[in-house]
Amino acid sequence: MSTAGDRPRLRKVDLAAAFGAFDERWSPKIVAALNGQHVKLAKVEGDFVWHSHADEDELFFVVHGRLEMHLRDGVIVLEPGELLVVPRGVEHKPVAPVETHILLFEPAGTVNTGDADTDRRVDADWLD
Ligand code: NI
Repeated sequence: MSTAGDRPRLRKVDLAAAFGAFDERWSPKIVAALNGQHVKLAKVEGDFVWHSHADEDELFFVVHGRLEMHLRDGVIVLEPGELLVVPRGVEHKPVAPVETHILLFEPAGTVNTGDADTDRRVDADWLD
């Protein structure tokens, strides 16, 4: 797996082209790194798993589709152009009723499944 240090510091990211370059669901791809954080893109559809992250706040920005962020006390719906930060320690379950394209911004090394014991975990790699 590549690390942020391997990559050029100045590289434009075309979101449409990047989303067109992969098709896996719930498998975030790193497209940029800064200050110990990663910008990741993911295609999601259907339900993910309940989890939380003890040490990381997670930003979700919807580019296409619709993301329903289930929280223990309700649901926050994100439409294209809307973003949400889920603070560390807060249990959440992302659900996408249709194919949805999201941008994530979170510390490098953040695990997609957080504290959940599940086979949905994937280690994000750079999108080439
Ligand atoms: Ni999460």
